[in-house]
Amino acid sequence: MVCIPYLPYVVRSQRAFLRRAAQYVVETGVRQFVDLGSGLPTAGNVHEVVQKLDPEGRVVYVDSDPVVVSEGRAMIADSVNTAFVCADFLRPEAVLAAPELRALLDLDEPVAVFMIDVLHHISDSDNPAAVIAAYVDMMCPDSHVALSHLGQDEALIDGLAMFRRMYDTPPPTVHLRNSQQIADLLAGLDLVEPGIVPLPLWHHAPHADSDLDRKPDIFPGYAALGRKPAFP
Ligand SMILES: C[S@@+](CC[C@H](N)C(=O)[O-])C[C@H]1O[C@@H](n2cnc3c(N)ncnc32)[C@H](O)[C@@H]1O
Repeated sequence: MVCIPYLPYVVRSQRAFLRRAAQYVVETGVRQFVDLGSGLPTAGNVHEVVQKLDPEGRVVYVDSDPVVVSEGRAMIADSVNTAFVCADFLRPEAVLAAPELRALLDLDEPVAVFMIDVLHHISDSDNPAAVIAAYVDMMCPDSHVALSHLGQDEALIDGLAMFRRMYDTPPPTVHLRNSQQIADLLAGLDLVEPGIVPLPLWHHAPHADSDLDRKPDIFPGYAALGRKPAFP
C-alpha cells in the first residue's frame, strides 16, 4: 500500500464519485453498466446505485484477479441482473464477447463503462487511449465512459518517495497523468459538465448529495465522464 497520509480520503472520494456518476448516467436513461477493474464489491457499488434507481438495471463487473472474481461472484449471488467476468480489460473485444456479459447486456443499447482507480496502473505502452477507443467503437451513441485518475500531484509524488525510503523497496508502479493526458484518453467523446476536474468537484447539478466532497486542494487526481456522440 502506498504510504500517503490521506489515502483513506482518496479511496472514499473515488467511491463517492463512482456513485455520483452512476446516478447521473442512470438519470440520462442508460441502464447497462460495465465496471472494469472493479475490485471486490464494497459499499455503494455500481449495481446497488443502479438497481436502487431501477431494479431492471444491469451491471457487469470485470476483474482479472481470480480471487476477486470468486469472492465477487459470491457477494452478488442474490442479484439477478448482475454478473462478474474474469478478464483482462486491456482486451476489449474479449471482455465484450464474454458469455456472462452477453447474457445481460445488449450492445445495441447504450452502455456505461466505468474505470475507477484503475487507469493509473496502466502504462502508456499498453496504450490506454486505444483501449478506451476500442470499447467506445463497439458501443452505440449515448454510451458513457467514467474514469478517475491520479494526477501529477506533489504530495502524491512525495508519498511514493516516502514509501521507497521507509520500506527500501520500489512503491507500486503508478502512471500519473495530467489533465491534458486524461483528455487524450477520452478523445472523441463529449465531456459531460463539469468536464475534467479535481475528483471531489465532479458533480452534475442538481446532485448535491450528502457525500459530495469539496476538498480539491488535497485531492491528487481527476474525474471525468464522457458521452459518445451520435455523429463522431
Ligand atoms: C484499485 S483496485 C479496485 C478499484 C475499483 N474500481 C474501485 O473503484 O474501488 C484495481 C482493480 O483492478 C484490477 N485490475 C488491474 N488491472 C486489470 C486488468 N488489466 N484487467 C482487469 N482488472 C484489472 C485489479 O485486480 C484490482 O482488483
